[in-house]
Amino acid sequence: MINISDISNQLPYLKFKKLYKEALTAQQPNIEAVCISSFDNKNRESNSRFVNLKYIINDEWIFFSNYLGPKSKEFNYCPNISAVFFWHQTNTQIRIKAKIQKSPKEFSDNHFKHRDKGKNILAISSEQSKEIDSYNDFIDVYEQASKKILNTQKRPAHWGGYSFRPYYFEFWQGHNLRINKREAFIFEKDVWKNIFLQP
Ligand SMILES: Cc1cc2nc3c(=O)[nH]c(=O)nc-3n(C[C@H](O)[C@H](O)[C@H](O)COP(=O)(O)O)c2cc1C
Repeated sequence: MINISDISNQLPYLKFKKLYKEALTAQQPNIEAVCISSFDNKNRESNSRFVNLKYIINDEWIFFSNYLGPKSKEFNYCPNISAVFFWHQTNTQIRIKAKIQKSPKEFSDNHFKHRDKGKNILAISSEQSKEIDSYNDFIDVYEQASKKILNTQKRPAHWGGYSFRPYYFEFWQGHNLRINKREAFIFEKDVWKNIFLQP
């Protein structure tokens, strides 16, 4: 689930909230999974991966990750990302374009403090996305770390929140006659412009 208790009241946010509640009521599994795409300048290619969105606070969308892995390098090079949700239970796709930045340290500290111990040991011990000889090698790293780490509530500097603020939304709602509804919101000159797109 995404914590949306303090979500903005701007128009696309109200729409998101409504569709989110419908998907939640329809028991959409992994409702918080969002695919984030970024640009890898070194290899001149795009990269996508799912993350779990944890909060929407006002107009900021927040997830947590390793700060040293590929996605982090890509965000540093180009903070313009795209994000997409698909909720199968309600046949809904939500596409977002946004600028991303790291969350304040205190916010990440506080989130880390309240996480499950096992997850924190993983966040502390994993050099996320770094090559390793075998899966079992990492199991050893993890087990060693579980014995060594004394304070599992202390956030390591290499892990924390990312927050993005959308400037574009497209809500796609599948229709049984294929006349799918596509409604977009574009932030221009301090207001959300609302348009419809052909299916
Ligand atoms: C449903 C789902 C949720 C995930 N959530 C996260 C997450 O919240 N944070 C994260 O760092 N990785 C998450 N992952 C793993 C990422 O997809 C990815 O493998 C990892 O972050 C490394 O990405 P990078 O090499 O592009 O930096 C998730 C994977 C799946 C399938």
